[in-house]
Amino acid sequence: LSSVEVDLSGIPESTAVVVKWRGKPLFIRHRSAEEISQSQAVELSTLPDPQADNARSKVPEWIILVGVCTHLGCIPISGGGDYNGWYCPCHGSHYDNAGRIRKGPAPMNLIVPPYKFITSDKIIVG
Ligand code: FES
Repeated sequence: LSSVEVDLSGIPESTAVVVKWRGKPLFIRHRSAEEISQSQAVELSTLPDPQADNARSKVPEWIILVGVCTHLGCIPISGGGDYNGWYCPCHGSHYDNAGRIRKGPAPMNLIVPPYKFITSDKIIVG
């Protein structure tokens, strides 16, 4: 299947789920207001791959990512790392709650796949 529909309604705030898309994991994270403001407050000049928080999502509450580390392709762990986002245990890359690389060898942020909202709590990815 080239695209996948995801129902967001059952995903509690401050948690992330994993679904499959084109043989890869997709991370879907429901951010709290506090997590959003933390991420928006980050000074872009401190980021290895500078990207504003609002460039990472269509709706701030929802972060949709391809769950493949941009270093050598391992699958990061949700909720881990020093930035309360994802942690890749292979070589120690830390991503924040918007999937931006903050520390470790990964050269780029986690990839945001093409997606759109079909209702307020349903998306289609791909
Ligand atoms: Fe993730 Fe190396 S593959 S840190």
